[in-house]
Amino acid sequence: MSIDRRTFLKGSIASGLALSFPNIVTAARAKTYRTALIGSGWWGMNITGEAIASGRCKIVAMCDVDDHQLNPAVEKVKGLTGDTPKRYKDFRELLEKEKPDIAIVATPDHWHPLCAIAAVEAGAHVYVEKPIGHTIAEGRAMVNAARAANRVVQVGTHRRISPHCISGRKFIQQGRAGKIGSVRAFVLYGGGPEKPKKNMEPPKGLDWNMWCGPAPLRPFNGNIDNPWGGGIHPRGFRQYLDYANGTLGDWGVHWVDQILWIMEEKWPKTVYSTGGRPIKGPPILTAEEQTSDAPDHQIATYEFEDFTAHWEHRNFAGNTAEKAENVGCYFYGTKGTFHMGWQKGWTFYPLGKGQKEIHEGPQLNDPDSQNIKELWADFLNAIETGKRPVCDIELIHRSTNMSLLGMLSLKLGRSVQWDGEKEVIVGDKTANKLLRRKYRKPWIYPRA
Ligand SMILES: NC(=O)c1ccc[n+]([C@@H]2O[C@H](COP(=O)([O-])OP(=O)(O)OC[C@H]3O[C@@H](n4cnc5c(N)ncnc54)[C@H](O)[C@@H]3O)[C@@H](O)[C@H]2O)c1
Repeated sequence: MSIDRRTFLKGSIASGLALSFPNIVTAARAKTYRTALIGSGWWGMNITGEAIASGRCKIVAMCDVDDHQLNPAVEKVKGLTGDTPKRYKDFRELLEKEKPDIAIVATPDHWHPLCAIAAVEAGAHVYVEKPIGHTIAEGRAMVNAARAANRVVQVGTHRRISPHCISGRKFIQQGRAGKIGSVRAFVLYGGGPEKPKKNMEPPKGLDWNMWCGPAPLRPFNGNIDNPWGGGIHPRGFRQYLDYANGTLGDWGVHWVDQILWIMEEKWPKTVYSTGGRPIKGPPILTAEEQTSDAPDHQIATYEFEDFTAHWEHRNFAGNTAEKAENVGCYFYGTKGTFHMGWQKGWTFYPLGKGQKEIHEGPQLNDPDSQNIKELWADFLNAIETGKRPVCDIELIHRSTNMSLLGMLSLKLGRSVQWDGEKEVIVGDKTANKLLRRKYRKPWIYPRA
């Protein structure tokens, strides 16, 4: 038998098998990715759950600076898989010793850049959470590091793969809402005045100095009993501007990302933002106590060539006057208003008399109504095919910039003109200084 014929026969048997038993053949060929988690809190564990559920990933190591987060996370993985991942408190040691194929970065925002860059440089593909960083120049450094190391970097903006967001995007792009002249993105929840919380000694097992890392070292005020208790850790960092960028940097990234994605834009020309804390009250930081310092409401306007977008968040009053949802984006077109939402899916409210609303419900996964499963599958596909993932780092760098430019304008108190090609603010030295910030020693700001 000639080699050609043998090869042909082998191929025919394989393809015959593949047709009869596709799962067996795919599983036999499939690689198992040695996967590590950095930041084993709420969302990191949601991602880890989907990595395990994919059947393609073995969780070999987990890292957190807080034993109270790390130990239950390791136990959870052990319960799900029977494996005990190695525990680390320093991501650098994890990367050096484990050399994972994949690293999930789900720390607070101020740590994303250094962890993600170190991971790609150590040879890992990275799934990093949004917003990708705390200042704009960090994002550029992350994009460059991903490209230099030729690693896939997927960002957790799962709405780009949510079935109802995909169909809603198609609806708008087919012109069924008419020509879109403006977009309003919003997150409107109730809330009230903020009482200062007492500063306290960090609990044993939490390395608070490492938690703060490159960001300023604030006194610790924990959410020991309630993760949404108003303190910094866990979860509460979102409203502390040393570590995050308030609601626009947190929830907002998902919705300003929808604007860029649906309208096929890269960046706005001009950004202006205003806001404050009339309800939460002035920020407090003393040796005894502190409050958060992010605005309790904010409005940001974004000018594009053909339309204007604006962002609005409020941590008071909710949104009882509107029927759509507390969160989402309204796309205002010549044929009516399209609401892209979350748990309520999307709805088109036509302008024409007698025309019926059109609605599509969401297809979200538990827990917490997300589409991480689909985004994880896309991530593995990108690793295997060399295609860019749907939430590629460069795309979500631009979406993160939308939020960060809004925060930058709020801090400056004036509008800024954005040169998205060069990633600089036009003719404004003071504003350009805010594209980066000083890191606390010994951490070094990443070079783009
Ligand atoms: N894509 C989404 O829909 C979505 C939803 C929720 C949260 N997130 C993002 O996930 C990230 C984490 O948020 P969370 O709510 O899970 O917070 P969390 O406080 O529950 O978890 C963060 C964990 O990171 C740990 N950590 C801090 N510094 C670290 C370091 N240097 N090395 C290792 N671990 C470190 C903390 O101790 C904590 O356990 C945030 O960036 C957030 O924006 C995304």
